Amino acid sequence: APAPPCTFVIFGGTGDLTRRLLMPALYNLARAGLLDPDFRVIGVGRSAMSDAAWRDGLDRDIRSFAADPSAEFHAERIDERSWGWLQDRLHYLQGDIGTPEFFAALADRLTGNVVFYLAIPASAFGPAIDRLGDAGLLREAPGVFRRVVIEKPFGEDLASACALNRRILAVAPERQFFRIDHFLGKESVQAIMALRFANVMFEAALHRDYVDHVEITAAETIGVEQRGSFYEPTGALRDMVPNHLFQLLCMVAMEPPESAAAEAARDERMRLLRSIRPVTPQNAARGQYAAGAVAGLPVPGYRQEVEVAPDSRTETYAALVLDIDNRRWAGVPFFLRTGKRLGARRTEIAVHFRRPPADPFSSLAFAGTAPNTLRFQIDPEHRLALGFSARAPGAAMRLQAAEAAYQAPDAEAEGSDVGYEALLYGCMRGDATLFQRGDIIEASWAVVDPLLRAWSEGTPERYAAGSDGPASADALFARSGRGRRAVG
Ligand code: BG6
Repeated sequence: APAPPCTFVIFGGTGDLTRRLLMPALYNLARAGLLDPDFRVIGVGRSAMSDAAWRDGLDRDIRSFAADPSAEFHAERIDERSWGWLQDRLHYLQGDIGTPEFFAALADRLTGNVVFYLAIPASAFGPAIDRLGDAGLLREAPGVFRRVVIEKPFGEDLASACALNRRILAVAPERQFFRIDHFLGKESVQAIMALRFANVMFEAALHRDYVDHVEITAAETIGVEQRGSFYEPTGALRDMVPNHLFQLLCMVAMEPPESAAAEAARDERMRLLRSIRPVTPQNAARGQYAAGAVAGLPVPGYRQEVEVAPDSRTETYAALVLDIDNRRWAGVPFFLRTGKRLGARRTEIAVHFRRPPADPFSSLAFAGTAPNTLRFQIDPEHRLALGFSARAPGAAMRLQAAEAAYQAPDAEAEGSDVGYEALLYGCMRGDATLFQRGDIIEASWAVVDPLLRAWSEGTPERYAAGSDGPASADALFARSGRGRRAVG
């Protein structure tokens, strides 16, 4: 069913996020018939531009992305009817979101349901929300919603996240805020909930009685690209762990929610995060990429990148071992790692099961069973893979490792969907399942806060671009009793 009619106001209307992700996602929703005829967009930007000029620019963008295999959005052809339908609803408003006058002008153009999308730098979130409040733009009436979508990063540590929550919740209640974590927009991440809670067999095995350890990996081959000024004060831990990796952790480790209601799933995520022991430097390792080669091509080290200090101490790799103090997971280590400029792109959750308690085949020539694994593969492949031991062919009884896999049909894997469709649609429908709640963000920062403080000093170990990351991460996992499989 189409989402209710609304005006979608984008602060940062001429920015990269709008061009590369939001417009293609809105186009996909239009194509799927999920937008109301009274839907419209107001793009807000600083430069003077007519509606037509804004539309023309977006039109050029979507066509060039469609044809560019490295863009998030691909399409063999644009569905002209849907794109035309959306273009007719695109309006541009020039203004400076730093001034109250602009908000007064905006208020004149708005009635009914509104989603304000803050595609602006994080330092502007608080001030923009204050001004929306002052202008009366967040006042809801019966049957009329006013919602604010907040991009990441939400805070840079526990104290700043708490302060931002306090600030915005003084303006409007929690239910009006939709904090983005784009990992929740990935169909392959949402698929984990379906697999776990719509079946019995996976769920039964995801328990300390059967699981030896869990690995959560987000390995990237890209470097810091043109984002040096953002990345320098951020680093891999802040950029990826309490947000994206914790979403994956919650998906695989939370208890079943009692219903499909947004708060049911969010309460379970919250409960899980609260049972994670805060991480200390003894349970973590960090690295920074040095020059090396990725896919056979030489690449510079992090310190040589644009807008990066030549003596930077920012980590581009982080590894953590987490302990979860609850009945299901006590004693099962969760290994989390993420890094840039590694040998291969791979985002996945790998559950490693225990060996059978007794092994009747231990005397066979090809002795021993392969350990059982369950892999939720997120990127680049969207796939569920089960690893187990099976009988090998031949007259003699022997064992061999086997794999069974399921590849879900998925518009995002094909590249037509950009991963924001479910998020935007959910927000317009008032479904917050795929968004971060304020207290969940605070609980996430609380887990990594001791480590953030410890890592404000010292220097990360260097690793060669294209490698598996720093040796200290291997040592960390070995110390915790388990070897680390290579990333490649
Ligand atoms: C972003 C980070 O939030 O997520 C980037 O800021 C990172 O540094 C990206 O590359 C990873 O997302 P994905 O969807 O490409 O795995």
